[in-house]
Amino acid sequence: MNLSEKIQEDFFKIIADTAAAKKKKVFVIGGFVRDLLLKRASKDADFVVLGSGIEFAREVAKAMGDHTEAKYFENFGTAMIRKGNWVLEFVGARKESYRKDSRKPIVENGTLKDDQKRRDFTINALSISLQKHNYGELHDPFNGLNDLKNKIIKTPLDPDITFSDDPLRMMRAIRFATQLNFTIEENSFQAIGRNKNRMSIVSRERITDELNKIVMAETPSTGFKLLEESGLLKVIFPQMDALKGVEVVNKNAHKDNFYHTLEVLDNVASKTDDLWLRWAAILHDIAKPVTKRYDPKVGWTFHGHEFVGAKMVSKIFKQLMLPQNEHMKYVQKLVLLHLRPIVLSKDTVTDSAVRRLLFDAGNDVDDLMLLCEADITSKNEAKVKKYLQNFKIVRRKLKEVEEKDRIRNWQPPVSGEIIMNTFGIKPSRLVGEIKTSIREAILDGIIPNEFEPAYRFMLQQGEKLGLTVRNNKLN
Ligand code: CTP
Repeated sequence: MNLSEKIQEDFFKIIADTAAAKKKKVFVIGGFVRDLLLKRASKDADFVVLGSGIEFAREVAKAMGDHTEAKYFENFGTAMIRKGNWVLEFVGARKESYRKDSRKPIVENGTLKDDQKRRDFTINALSISLQKHNYGELHDPFNGLNDLKNKIIKTPLDPDITFSDDPLRMMRAIRFATQLNFTIEENSFQAIGRNKNRMSIVSRERITDELNKIVMAETPSTGFKLLEESGLLKVIFPQMDALKGVEVVNKNAHKDNFYHTLEVLDNVASKTDDLWLRWAAILHDIAKPVTKRYDPKVGWTFHGHEFVGAKMVSKIFKQLMLPQNEHMKYVQKLVLLHLRPIVLSKDTVTDSAVRRLLFDAGNDVDDLMLLCEADITSKNEAKVKKYLQNFKIVRRKLKEVEEKDRIRNWQPPVSGEIIMNTFGIKPSRLVGEIKTSIREAILDGIIPNEFEPAYRFMLQQGEKLGLTVRNNKLN
């Protein structure tokens, strides 16, 4: 197969000319070729050179002109050139062999095929020649093209060898299967189960990078099911693995929280590309296994799982090396509040309950509503219809109350300064008490969210607490 028509970017010509001038053999390889054949857009291309990748990259950078941004990593024998939006990486073809008496590989210069053998999957081992005499020709020693057509992820060598070279490839297999909607070939999949504990030598950042790519896929449940089935989930994220299973007592079963969580995650994923909202879906019921009880009168309960779950978020974020910043706080907040809209929709929806929800959720109230709607996974159609109908009412009320009372980003209408000034008091617990009573009165709808009524209310509260008015703004 010749793909010269398909590789049109002008850097290919510069690289091919440099290769001809310097008498070097150069191939474009890996993800770029895979994505080209799958008609997926890409912005980086890897080049393998017979000989030194760094030396060749220096020549390419020269040919591209003075302003070319290039970096050379002598320790790794790789180089990177930025060209427009593209990132071009160069490496010398390598061969790796293991001595019988040592686990340390000997890395030496190799042929193109040696290099292709050391790659993760047959679909990522495809290369295209940039030599003048066969420019654009596909080199496919492991039938990667066939695997692309049949949508198969398969290692080029015995999977135990490929995975032991870099155990992260087990995650990559599942990530590609999820992103591309491919199947992992049976032998390669079985090897993941055998090698899963080798993940312990891989850095947490690399694991989480792959996990996030699974989370961001169109149907993330595919990846999580494969992670669970292969045994990897238990190794990398045991709390999620613990959601799996159904217990039965006196013929009463609860639902399998793992599959429920995956349904919620897919529902959310169909509505938003927000990574953190997707993480909130993953974690919304994370404390169900630890809060699960059986009560002979009411059956299975998970009391307080939203509070315990919110506490678990920070620990899980640390463990997975996810950021400890506002994203974590956002996920925590959604986990904590995820039952509120549904509780609200079960009763008559009162203004004060809506106001409290707006106060607690703030600007994240729309995301919370999205999560809660996604959380309705009952197979009982009548029930689903009723919930969705109630949610409509909640949404309408949220809008009405917000328009009227502006609670979303609530700022106290009467500040601590004013309270202190009015009663001539210093910062103290009393100031806090008065502020809280004003806030509660607004949330309960006793007074509107406006300065004057709040001020009058403050005067009354002060009086009740035995304070004397020193300075009345209303006089
Ligand atoms: N590769 C590998 N083993 C790894 C990582 C990468 O063999 N653990 C090889 C594969 O040939 C891969 C290429 O290096 O195609 C480039 O890797 P990378 O840029 O990480 O992945 P892509 O395949 O380009 O895919 P994506 O951009 O989606 O990550």
